[in-house]
Amino acid sequence: MSKQHIAILGAGNIGLSLAKGLVKAGIYQPSQITLTRRNIASLANMKEEGFGVIASNAEAVKGATIIVLAILPQQLNKLLDEIKPSVDPAKHLLISVISGVSCQDIRKYLALDVQVVRVMPNTAIAIGQSMTCIATDTATEENIKVVTAMFNTVGVSIQINEDLMTSATALCACGIAFFLRSIRAASQGGTEIGFHAHDALKMAAQTAKGAADLLLQLSSHPEHEIDKVTSPKGCTIAGLNEMEHNGFSSAMIKGIKMSAEKAGVLYKE
Ligand SMILES: NC(=O)c1ccc[n+]([C@@H]2O[C@H](COP(=O)([O-])OP(=O)(O)OC[C@H]3O[C@@H](n4cnc5c(N)ncnc54)[C@H](OP(=O)(O)O)[C@@H]3O)[C@@H](O)[C@H]2O)c1
Repeated sequence: MSKQHIAILGAGNIGLSLAKGLVKAGIYQPSQITLTRRNIASLANMKEEGFGVIASNAEAVKGATIIVLAILPQQLNKLLDEIKPSVDPAKHLLISVISGVSCQDIRKYLALDVQVVRVMPNTAIAIGQSMTCIATDTATEENIKVVTAMFNTVGVSIQINEDLMTSATALCACGIAFFLRSIRAASQGGTEIGFHAHDALKMAAQTAKGAADLLLQLSSHPEHEIDKVTSPKGCTIAGLNEMEHNGFSSAMIKGIKMSAEKAGVLYKE
């Protein structure tokens, strides 16, 4: 893995997070990663850090063995037109982080029998804490292992069936925003009951982190942990029930379903 060169086509939020995460994990040197975007001036700081930065996607592809497609769904076809003459199925492995685009969609558009692995990370990849879902149709076990090892360095990965990738997008990629908004809402509540905004945010975020770690480290169930906090006639159950009367769980479930529906049609729109 350490000898491979990666081209990240579309160094925006996810592309940059991936690049930084891989380097932070110590698996790749910046010089092994080439970044592209149309406005390369905004990648000047990455260039200073030693990453390859060029505007030509075709050139980036020629110099790499692993190609990460990290543009928006509506930008994909134009980019595929650009790189098609440079893609060599015998040499290249394509990794797509694009929501709503199947491995088959990419192969069909390129008219090449290239191996494609779909990956759905989230923005916590920048700090090595991504929940990454990985799926493919025709890629070899060996290549799936390469991709899994790559993304295990920047968080936790699981392999899922490709038909669940849009669901994974909603739960894990969009999910970052859902939990962040929950933390923000908790901090706003905290401010209203007496804490300065910066203290309230820190207290809410650490409390959320502790709650997640209770589940992850103890392999526990949320309701089991909630039962421990809710004493009879107590303040926790009163607050929790008030939230539920106002549709707390229902709003989260409906939001996730809405995001999954939208993720499924992004490329088609
Ligand atoms: N954000 C998330 O949490 C998340 C999580 C998982 C997956 N995804 C998926 O990841 C993909 C990227 O999302 P994002 O949030 O990183 O979007 P983004 O910040 O808009 O990044 C896309 C980048 O692509 C560049 N770009 C556009 N056309 C290009 C071209 N022809 N050649 C080279 N670069 C080009 C853009 O820069 P220029 O305009 O300068 O070219 C931009 O920096 C999306 O498909 C999304 O569905 C996102």
